[in-house]
Amino acid sequence: MNDFDDNIFSSPVSSKELEDGFRGLVDAKHGVEDRFQYSLRPGKIDEFIGQDRVRENLKIAIGAATQRGSTLDHILFYGPPGLGKTTFASIIAGERGVSMKTSSGPVLERPGDLAAVLSSLQENDVLFIDEIHRLPRIVEEVLYPAMEDFFIDIIIGQGPAARSVKLDLKPFTLVAATTRMGLISSPLRDRFGLVERVEYYTTSQMVEIVLRSAELLEVRIDKDGAREIAGRSRGTPRIANRLLRRSRDYAEQRADGLVSKEVADKALNLLDIDSSGLDIMDRAVLRTIIDKFDGGPVGVDTIAASLSEDRGSIEEVYEPYLLQRGFLQRTPRGRMATAKAWQYFGLEMPEIAQLQMKREPHEFES
Ligand SMILES: Nc1ncnc2c1ncn2[C@@H]1O[C@H](COP(=O)(O)OP(=O)(O)OP(=O)(O)O)[C@@H](O)[C@H]1O
Ligand SMILES: [Mg+2]
Repeated sequence: MNDFDDNIFSSPVSSKELEDGFRGLVDAKHGVEDRFQYSLRPGKIDEFIGQDRVRENLKIAIGAATQRGSTLDHILFYGPPGLGKTTFASIIAGERGVSMKTSSGPVLERPGDLAAVLSSLQENDVLFIDEIHRLPRIVEEVLYPAMEDFFIDIIIGQGPAARSVKLDLKPFTLVAATTRMGLISSPLRDRFGLVERVEYYTTSQMVEIVLRSAELLEVRIDKDGAREIAGRSRGTPRIANRLLRRSRDYAEQRADGLVSKEVADKALNLLDIDSSGLDIMDRAVLRTIIDKFDGGPVGVDTIAASLSEDRGSIEEVYEPYLLQRGFLQRTPRGRMATAKAWQYFGLEMPEIAQLQMKREPHEFES
């Protein structure tokens, strides 16, 4: 089993983890083991800012399982990147006082890979599978009986000599995350006891998050500086943490070290992040719909092709934020730029586009 370990369990520090809180913090003499100490991730459910509904549901589920002395139900988190899905998984393991093993959909290539992880779990452990929508079908099928009745069927040998062996597992909790709920099959989805959507954070929650990270990173910042960063972070803590570091660099190199509103504004302008928090790609998506398709409706595939981006990142990363901020409207025939989007670029929405907008049914669920 050991030869699987390196592939299956997460590598010491992934690039995303670096982005999430370790970059610039772990200096050469600090080993990988120190990384949690320096992490910006909240470690307890009560330290977690925002996502109140998710937190309440988790507290109830964790409290009930702990009180009954039973295994916590499997939990699926979905929503845009950088909002705290991985953080919730580690909080759950922490609150339950169990270990967490981490893997991800694309890494679990063969049924044997998953079998190795599952059989290494101790009672009540948390198995976190990130990007579960990328789990191959044959591996997903191994997961079904594991989730439901804590056993797996593994095939030993090949050809006519092959036989199936039932292997009992210790009861465990699967915590999974996905940015693409639409790609999760219903048999898999139905096996989760709790399915939780993580949302973009409000500006005031983002201010709290920025101030908290600044304190942990020992960055000098004032309330207005924090507000500036918060408002320009697409409601996403991962982005806020990055912009905070860039603002700190700017403050140290071009000002007196304090991240004030003015300093943050200058630093973020240099990074091409505008005052509504839209980045280059957000603006490119809107401009494409407006300039090339007269405001839409236009299909996601067409938008993706004109921008040479893949459909996935348009749908997972850019579109949800633009929808939430009211710059974009989903219709059965595609996406439309709203009047707010036209205004944003200092353009008047043409009458024909306005009529089109009225005619299209809104809030189409794809
Ligand atoms: N509520 C919060 N309070 C403070 N920091 C947070 C909060 N939520 C997330 N963060 C920070 O944002 C970063 C990203 O969070 P996390 O890795 O959990 O996101 P994710 O949803 O798993 O993203 P992805 O889908 O890209 O894996 C982490 O560094 C974490 O410290
Ligand atoms: Mg994650």
